[in-house]
Amino acid sequence: MADVQFNKITKRFGDITAVSDFSLSIEEGEFITLLGPSGCGKTTTLRLLAGFYPPSSGSIKIGGEPASDLERNVFLPPGRRRLGMVFQDYALWPHMTVSDNVRYPLKIAGRPRTEQNAKVDEILAIVEMSGCEQRFPHELSGGQQQRIALARALISDPRVLLLDEPLSNLDASLRENMRVEIKNIHRRLGVSILLVTHDQAEAMSMSDRIVVMDHGCIHQIGTPEELYDSPVDEFVASFVGKANFFKVRQVGTMLYLCGDSRSDGAFADEEFLQPLESAHIQGSPVRGLGCAKPTDFQISRDAPTGAHGIIESSLFIGDSVVYYVRVGSIQFQVKTEDRSFEIGTDVSVSFKKVILF
Ligand SMILES: Nc1ncnc2c1ncn2[C@@H]1O[C@H](COP(=O)(O)OP(=O)(O)O)[C@@H](O)[C@H]1O
Ligand SMILES: [Mg+2]
Repeated sequence: MADVQFNKITKRFGDITAVSDFSLSIEEGEFITLLGPSGCGKTTTLRLLAGFYPPSSGSIKIGGEPASDLERNVFLPPGRRRLGMVFQDYALWPHMTVSDNVRYPLKIAGRPRTEQNAKVDEILAIVEMSGCEQRFPHELSGGQQQRIALARALISDPRVLLLDEPLSNLDASLRENMRVEIKNIHRRLGVSILLVTHDQAEAMSMSDRIVVMDHGCIHQIGTPEELYDSPVDEFVASFVGKANFFKVRQVGTMLYLCGDSRSDGAFADEEFLQPLESAHIQGSPVRGLGCAKPTDFQISRDAPTGAHGIIESSLFIGDSVVYYVRVGSIQFQVKTEDRSFEIGTDVSVSFKKVILF
């Protein structure tokens, strides 16, 4: 049985439609991420699930039971939804110790003190903060405060853990550590997680499935691999990993490269791209748009086939090099482990994969 079901949820604030016709099932123990740019409706979706406000239409089930359903006149308050939530700014109570912050949900639920103490010990061990019980939030680092916020969200044994951009206030190295920590907690506790982020690397590295959103609408739901390898549209392709876009034209069974996707220019400098039946081509050129990831190219000095290109600049990034390669009016970003191309080198450019839209 699905842990959470959003069924055609729409949420309007006055004239603004923050979330539009949103449907999603979260299976038990699944790690799902809502990914999209700022303002696309991620936080609103999370808050609708938490019960901070009712949807304008549609319904939500938690554990198979209706939680928000206007037609049936059902609206469970947040405290009865068995969800844990961690906010971007942690929202710890500054005047309370770590121990009192973490025990708070059990205290207001009226649980006995001995049970509270045992649970606080257990959960602080899980987030690796044992020994910090008597400290105050201002005596902790950002990462430690984040762990305490996690502990507080986990202590009442939630059915689903909701995380709203929980890592965005941490510095880069700590953020990587916390990604691993959260994955470990997920594995150990088996709790379902719904994470919200605008950071595609975070979404890709942590999630079982990702929901890509824009302007309140879902563009695609899939595993990180599915989104990267088979984006359904230009928005997903550009949001999940870097992508080169270019205009293409089909002539019989041949595909031609015919200019920068942003220019309106005609096919003045078109170059042969690839035979259309090639196994490396996905989709069909309905809108005349091609897309290739930086790793989807092959560049070489002397291959007889492929388009003619010239290396315009390069960025060494340690394990690989990103070359800026000019082909006609287009500049491609090409990523390869081969460090040997110098600026100004003539190369032949072919595509290991092109996705057509
Ligand atoms: N309480 C509110 N009242 C009015 N507009 C809101 C409210 N909450 C969110 N919005 C609007 O809804 C849209 C989605 O917001 P939000 O869900 O916070 O996006 P995200 O979390 O993806 O950045 C935005 O245009 C935002 O301004
Ligand atoms: Mg938000």
